[in-house]
Amino acid sequence: MASNTGDLNAFQKDQSVRTVDTSRKMRVGIIGTGWIAEAHLNAYMAQPDVEIVAGCDLVPGKAKSFFEKFGLKGVKTDYANDEEMLADKSLKLDCVSVCTYNRQHAPCAIHALNAGINVLLEKPMCVTTEEAIEIIKAEKKSGKVLSIGFQPRFDENMKEIKKIVQSGQLGKVYYIQTGGGRRRGIPTPFGTTFIEDETAGLGALGDIGCYSLDMVLNAIGYPKPLTVTGVKSGVFGTDPNCVCYYGHSEYASKFGVDDWAAAFIRLEGGIVLDFRIAWAMNMDTPGDTIILGTKGGLRIPSTECWNGTVGGPMTIYHEVAGVQVETKIPVLQTKEPLFNQKIRTFLDASKNGTPAPVPSSQILYNQAILDGIAKSNELGREVEINVPSFDEI
Ligand SMILES: NC(=O)c1ccc[n+]([C@@H]2O[C@H](COP(=O)([O-])OP(=O)(O)OC[C@H]3O[C@@H](n4cnc5c(N)ncnc54)[C@H](O)[C@@H]3O)[C@@H](O)[C@H]2O)c1
Repeated sequence: MASNTGDLNAFQKDQSVRTVDTSRKMRVGIIGTGWIAEAHLNAYMAQPDVEIVAGCDLVPGKAKSFFEKFGLKGVKTDYANDEEMLADKSLKLDCVSVCTYNRQHAPCAIHALNAGINVLLEKPMCVTTEEAIEIIKAEKKSGKVLSIGFQPRFDENMKEIKKIVQSGQLGKVYYIQTGGGRRRGIPTPFGTTFIEDETAGLGALGDIGCYSLDMVLNAIGYPKPLTVTGVKSGVFGTDPNCVCYYGHSEYASKFGVDDWAAAFIRLEGGIVLDFRIAWAMNMDTPGDTIILGTKGGLRIPSTECWNGTVGGPMTIYHEVAGVQVETKIPVLQTKEPLFNQKIRTFLDASKNGTPAPVPSSQILYNQAILDGIAKSNELGREVEINVPSFDEI
């Protein structure tokens, strides 16, 4: 195990160097050419075996100017939506990135899988559990790769959390507290697609909540969620004087999602998950992530986003020969940009027909928790999470 006197280079040696077979180029399309599509495109352009052949957006002309901004010529963009692009067989697409707002994740992913194309779907997987099940049905029928866009998975600190848990250092995990967020940070950098119900469907829950859930659920092997008591609200988002809006007070009337949520979730295996997430609150953080086990406890200092970062060195609280001690885990550096790893691992899986780097079989449970919180909030009580496993779909 690492100690606070550990050598960072020793950790970095683990990060593998990839070789890419350039004899077969992957033909790639982008669905939705907004903010996050830029990160996808940059990462695709960094790969030696990719040809960007097409892109589309609902907003006329947006896809064209998007590719022009990157100096890409010859990319076909004259499509009104994803279905038109996917119907163009001359493109011979191998892969698409679905970079649409949340409410358009399920339809676009299903259309692409039905067209026999490998899909990298941005997070959150979608908005409801029912949509996630429909996506998985399409995935299974297609036999294609579907990977969900959780790039924090490739961060060395996130990997270390999983290694610590899986090493048995903590013993049997029985309680987890996770979440995070911002004092003021409702995202409206390019308009209101993140905060309107008809585009986003989920607010802080789908934007950053899914990351903190993935961090801990992935570490413990994604047990099935059983029940949830959840609450959510939008006090700051609906306030026209909210400082997050930078002079756009009209955004408040469009706000239709959550800027705060909290939940108590029971997981298979007798594990309890205590969770809160905020885009805005009168506090700096709702607390660090803690994972309690029978032999040790892990503290992961909070961040405002969990998007591939930890808020400082982690600490393991344990006993050595009857003495209570703390072991510090230094913050680890990740060499290759997370988006490049997300795109590269997706391309490799698509090329070789190997399992998706971030499989829907796991993220289905992440989605079921987000959806369960919404349902519990609506009913004002604890609800059962009746989600089938991937194999049962
Ligand atoms: N992984 C990350 O780090 C990260 C960061 C930011 C956003 N995201 C996710 O990416 C997604 C998009 O976020 P964004 O900020 O880019 O949103 P955005 O609103 O800037 O862009 C989405 C684009 O998709 C287009 N679109 C919607 N439906 C379409 C369809 N059927 N066919 C073609 N185009 C369609 C919209 O017109 C819009 O231009 C969200 O789900 C968000 O959660 C991920």
